[in-house]
Amino acid sequence: MNKNKLKKKFNPNLLWYYALGAIAVWTLFIILSLLWHRKTIRSSTLEAARIEARDVLQNHVIYRSWNASHGGLYAPVTPKTRPNPYLDIPERDIQTPSGVKLTKINPAYMTRQVIELALKKFGYIGHITSLKPIRPGNKPDDWEAHALKSFERGNNEVSSLAIINKKKYMRLIRPLITEKKCLKCHAKQGYKEGDIRGGISVAVPVAPHFAIEKANLKTFRLMYALLWFAGLAGTVFFIAVLNRQIQKRLIAEDELRRREKMEGVIELAGAICHELNQPLQTILGNSEIIMMDNIDKQSILKRVRLIREQVDRMGKLTGKLIKIASYETKDMPQGKVIDIEKSSR
Ligand code: HEC
Repeated sequence: MNKNKLKKKFNPNLLWYYALGAIAVWTLFIILSLLWHRKTIRSSTLEAARIEARDVLQNHVIYRSWNASHGGLYAPVTPKTRPNPYLDIPERDIQTPSGVKLTKINPAYMTRQVIELALKKFGYIGHITSLKPIRPGNKPDDWEAHALKSFERGNNEVSSLAIINKKKYMRLIRPLITEKKCLKCHAKQGYKEGDIRGGISVAVPVAPHFAIEKANLKTFRLMYALLWFAGLAGTVFFIAVLNRQIQKRLIAEDELRRREKMEGVIELAGAICHELNQPLQTILGNSEIIMMDNIDKQSILKRVRLIREQVDRMGKLTGKLIKIASYETKDMPQGKVIDIEKSSR
């Protein structure tokens, strides 16, 4: 069977349209997965930066606590470590027997100096602050003030991305709660145990975290691309195989139908031969007798009548052949033939 005829029954393009639809859905699925994955990666990047910031902040809290447990610590007076004008307690400045001048370092003063070091060494920004600062330099900025107010309402951490000096940072602030050891210096401002005295805010650069994220994303993008391509190749392959299979089957079916038709023709031919054989024999035999020399007229008439009978019979047969409307067969010694009698009813 030729290909054009086949195309009328089965359009291979149809399957390709389905494949196109499947590929579109697959592409959409991959894009959405990637977007979703990117979102989760971003939130874990921010969480990692937040953990780092919290870690930096806790360190400040720990040494401060140790300092406060001693009610402040003495350090030699240097150009950088001047006596703290805001620290109003007896024996703030003392002298060793050999004459070295010492001054008391309260926790907040120590924090300010450590924060300065942390900035120089690691790029970590820090600030000790309060809504009612003793030292004006400890005044909160808008973001800190907002967070400190939220601590009064029971919140205990605020964090967000921020741009400081054109660089991206994770900012994080937590409250500093007034403990018993703080009251030695802070009772006079009216603080009680459990009050929120202020807070420490830190800001850590997020660039290293974003660098990790970028590397991860690169891998994931490649993975998604491969996955997408595998789906694409799989679909194309599947459709191609399916198309071939269907075409093969159609060709086979057509061959079968053709063979069946041929069988029908042979069966009909067999039936006609069978039906014509006897009349033809009779006609042949009688015409041979007629052609003999010494035959009388009476006999000739008899023979001609016999011949006419057979011709009539053949005429009826052609009439029946024209009227064949169904397919009925009967078995004969030479094989299956069409039953003309039944088929033309
Ligand atoms: C030895 C005295 C002393 C002790 C103990 C002390 N502080 Fe302070 N604190 C001060 C002084 C003085 C300041 C003023 C500003 C500065 O030095 O920066 C201050 C400042 C602060 C600030 C910054 C806001 C501001 O008012 O300027 C906070 C917050 C703070 N203290 C919390 C605490 C907490 C919490 C404790 C207990 C764990 C504590 N302090 C223990 C003396 C002390």
